[in-house]
Amino acid sequence: MIPGKIGLAVGIVGSVAFIRWATLGGGTLGLAFGLLLSAVLLMWVGYMLPRARMILVSVGFFTLMSGIFASYSNWLPQVRGEVPKAEAAGTSKKAEDMTAQELADKGEMIIFGEMGTLHGQGKGQCPLCHGFKKGDVSERAPNLAGIPQRAAERIKDARYSKPDSIQTEAFSGSGRATTAFEYIAESHSCPNCFIVAGFGVKGSNDRESPMPAIHKPPIQLTIDELIAVDTWLFVREGEEAPPVADLRAAYEKFIPAADRAEPAKEAAAPAGGPGPVIATGADTPDQIIAKMACGACHTIPTTGNKFGAIGPVLIEKTSAAKRIASAEYKARVKAGKAHATTPKEYIIESIMNPSAFIVPAFVNKGNPDVSMMPPDFAKKFTYEAVEKMADFLLSIDESAAAKDGIKVDKDGRKAS
Ligand code: HEC
Ligand code: HEC
Repeated sequence: MIPGKIGLAVGIVGSVAFIRWATLGGGTLGLAFGLLLSAVLLMWVGYMLPRARMILVSVGFFTLMSGIFASYSNWLPQVRGEVPKAEAAGTSKKAEDMTAQELADKGEMIIFGEMGTLHGQGKGQCPLCHGFKKGDVSERAPNLAGIPQRAAERIKDARYSKPDSIQTEAFSGSGRATTAFEYIAESHSCPNCFIVAGFGVKGSNDRESPMPAIHKPPIQLTIDELIAVDTWLFVREGEEAPPVADLRAAYEKFIPAADRAEPAKEAAAPAGGPGPVIATGADTPDQIIAKMACGACHTIPTTGNKFGAIGPVLIEKTSAAKRIASAEYKARVKAGKAHATTPKEYIIESIMNPSAFIVPAFVNKGNPDVSMMPPDFAKKFTYEAVEKMADFLLSIDESAAAKDGIKVDKDGRKAS
């Protein structure tokens, strides 16, 4: 009986160790192996120990089934295989040297920063404004599901052939889009060339687009990156992507040579998604603004960010103190949601916890409790960086805006 007891102990310790090993480092395949081996061990020990046979054989059988399930699910074809990150980023390869699928994967990484989820946010920043899943309510910008088909319709729109927006050609003499993929390229490089009805800058009568030109700072994708994004827009609909040469020609039609982002910049900030894009104390305020794309939503006097219109013009030397003194802010303090007592604290709170208080004119009607500011800056700013940003924004007032030719209405909006 003694050897039997030792066998039992060894069996139990062995099984536990196997499962532990497998779950820690072995991945699902390791887990499957661990379970199968444990099952064999348990049944063998059960065979040696008549008194514990029933229980050990049942537990062994259960473990065996789990092992079979684990290995079965491991061998199932994966819906979406792990794409090697470096390859998806494919930064060094020219679009011409990549397959349509490689380009589409790269495009997906640029948009979302991760594969197969339609979540997250890559360097392209598109999900800041756009929904991508059919049925997603995307009230700040059109849902991009079905865009290849819709693009072909857009160019037949009467508003497209008789544009009256603030800019009607990407650059003087560029001409306008004549195909669906040209329409998409034009949307990216000249958002003002056509404004989807209802999505223009508020008060502009759909004559001005809130979308930033994607080839320009702060987003500044290269033509190769834009080709990847467009390829994904087609491939994910099950459509054949236009040939790379045609896509490149479309971008060269709309982006003058002097405005094309250098591929070197692409290498410096690989398409590998947001990764840990962190603003640190080593960055200047301009670098922080560029990294975090504040200019996609905010006009920021003195910095050259003149087009953001989703959030208030950032003239915090003028605004921050007024906000804290407002009845609306005091109500949020009373409710325990907002906590700033100084202008600097107000700015830090606006960045780190944007929904603490929402500037009244910018309340999103569909979702009044949630700010349209990205909610995750708290994870992307070091303390030093947010302090630096707050000090910098506190140096900008109404007169700095006036000097830049930027008018601000009483609500903090850019007045056009
Ligand atoms: C700051 C918000 C914002 C960001 C960021 C943004 N867009 Fe847009 N986009 C808009 C808005 C608003 C419109 C509709 C107005 C217009 O037509 O310009 C639009 C229009 C478009 C259209 C035309 C849609 C249609 O139905 O005709 C395309 C295509 C597009 N965006 C693609 C992109 C891609 C790709 C990215 C990322 C690389 C991106 N956008 C980033 C706001 C944004
Ligand atoms: C996706 C659009 C978006 C981006 C990107 C964005 N903001 Fe905002 N921001 C808003 C909106 C909308 C508001 C107004 C609603 C609110 O108060 O939360 C706002 C409010 C603010 C306020 C309060 C302004 C005031 O006058 O009371 C500050 C400060 C601010 N943002 C700073 C920043 C900084 C700094 C960045 C970049 C690190 C940034 N925002 C990026 C949309 C954005």
